Amino acid sequence: MNQEIWTSVDDYFTELFAQEDDVLKTVLRNSAVEGLPPYQVSPCQGKFLQLLIEIQNSKRVLEIGTLGGYSTIWMSRALGVNGLIVTIEAVEKHAAVAAQNFELARQSNKISLIHDDAKNALQRMINDGNEPFDLIFIDADKPNNLVYLDLALQLSRPGTIIVGDNVVREGEVTNQNSSDDKVRGVRKYCQGLSENPLLNSTAIQTVGSKGYDGFTLTVVKEGESTSHPVQD
Ligand code: DHB
Ligand code: MG
Repeated sequence: MNQEIWTSVDDYFTELFAQEDDVLKTVLRNSAVEGLPPYQVSPCQGKFLQLLIEIQNSKRVLEIGTLGGYSTIWMSRALGVNGLIVTIEAVEKHAAVAAQNFELARQSNKISLIHDDAKNALQRMINDGNEPFDLIFIDADKPNNLVYLDLALQLSRPGTIIVGDNVVREGEVTNQNSSDDKVRGVRKYCQGLSENPLLNSTAIQTVGSKGYDGFTLTVVKEGESTSHPVQD
C-alpha cells in the first residue's frame, strides 16, 4: 500500500462523489499561483464537511484557518441562504487570496473573513457575546489547537460539532517524545478532547491524495460549556 494507490482510489471516489466544478478548480489554481501551501482539504473531505452541515442542518459555522478558502467554499455551498461561516486567517497573504476566491465563487455574502490571530479573533467574539456556532472546523496552526479548542468551546452549545483536521501526521501522533511542534500540538489537542467531560469524541485515520492523516470528530454534550486547559 502506498501513496499511488491512495491517490488513485481518492481520484475514483472524487469522480463519483465530489467532482470539482470550474470555480473550485480556479480557486485551487489561484492559491497555488500565489504560493499558498497545498494544505487544503481534498474534494472528498470537502464533501464530508458539506454532508455534516446537511445532516446537522447547520446555520452558523466557524472555521479556524482559512488558507485560500477552499474548504470554506465547500462548506458555504452547503449552507442555506441564511447560513453564515466565520472563517479566521492569521496570514495576510492567505486572507487576501481567500477574499478573492470568495468573490469568484460568489459566496462572500455567506462568509465573514476575519484577518487576525485566531486567539484575538475568538476572544473578541466571546467578549462580544457572539451566538454559538453549530459546527466548528479547526484547521489552523497545530501547536495552538488546544488553545483554539478552549476558546471555540466558549462559542459552542450542546450539540455543536467540532472537527479537528490533521491529527495523525503519518502516524507520528503516537510518538510521545516527538520534537515536532505540530505533533506535540495535536497530541495535546487529542488529550484535551479526551479529558474534557463535556465532549464526546472519536478519531478517524485517513489515507488519500493528502497522504496518511486523520481527523477528530467531537460533539459537545448536554451541560454547560467551559474551557478545560491541559498541562504539558
Ligand atoms: C498541515 C496542515 C494542514 O491543515 C493540512 O491539512 C495538512 C498539513 C501542516 O501544517 O503540515
Ligand atoms: Mg488541514
